[in-house]
Amino acid sequence: MMPETIPGALDFPATQKNRQVIGDVLSEIFDPESHLRLLEVASGSGQHAVYFASRFPNWTIQPTDIAQEHLNSISAYTEHQGLSNVLPPQKVDVSADEWNLEGSFDGLWAINLIHISPWECTLGLLQNTRNILNPGGLLYLYGAYRRNGEHTSDSNRAFDQSLRASNPTWGVRCLDELTETAQQHGFRLQQVIQMPANNLSVVFQAV
Ligand SMILES: C[S@@+](CC[C@H](N)C(=O)[O-])C[C@H]1O[C@@H](n2cnc3c(N)ncnc32)[C@H](O)[C@@H]1O
Repeated sequence: MMPETIPGALDFPATQKNRQVIGDVLSEIFDPESHLRLLEVASGSGQHAVYFASRFPNWTIQPTDIAQEHLNSISAYTEHQGLSNVLPPQKVDVSADEWNLEGSFDGLWAINLIHISPWECTLGLLQNTRNILNPGGLLYLYGAYRRNGEHTSDSNRAFDQSLRASNPTWGVRCLDELTETAQQHGFRLQQVIQMPANNLSVVFQAV
C-alpha cells in the first residue's frame, strides 16, 4: 500500500533506503528476542517506527516528534498496519528541559535529527535521554558526521553547506565534539559503525 492511499500518511523517501541497514544495526545493539521498551525521537513520517515494529515484534516502540503533521502520519501508518507494539505518538520537543513521557526506556534512537536541528536539540537530547534511560541503556544516533573536524566526503561537505544555507543553526556535527559533550552528560561512546552513503551509526551507553 502506497503512502498516498493512507489518509494523513507522509512519505519520507530516505526511510525506504536506510531502514533495512539501520534495522540491522538496531538488531545487533538491542536483542530482538527481548521485550524492550524503546523510544524514537524525531520520528518524522513514522515509516521507520512501523518498519522496526513489524520486523521486531517483541519491542514496544514509543514514537515522538515535535510536528503535529508528523504525529498524525505516525498514527495513520500504525493504524493502517494494525501494529499493537507502536504506542500512540507523543509530542516531544527534544530541546525541552523535560520530556513529558511515561516510564523509562531500554534504549532510544534519533535518526537524521542532530544535523537538522540547532545544537540545543543535541544538548536536550543528551540530558533527557540520560534521565529517561534504564541503567546501561543505549542511545543510537544515525546521520552524517565530521571526524577530527573534517568532512569525510565531498557529498557530506555539500550537504553541510546546504543545511547551513537553510538554517545557520543546522549543520553536520563533529563526532569528536559530540562524544565529548555526551561524556559530560554521563555517556560513553560504545560503537561507531560505517553506514552506506557516508553516514554513521553512533552508539552511546549510559554509565
Ligand atoms: C530529517 S527529519 C527525520 C525524520 C525521521 N527520523 C527520518 O529519518 O525519516 C527531522 C525530524 O526532526 C523533527 N524535529 C526537528 N526539531 C525537533 C525538535 N526540537 N524536537 C523533536 N523533533 C524535532 C522534525 O519534525 C522531523 O520529523
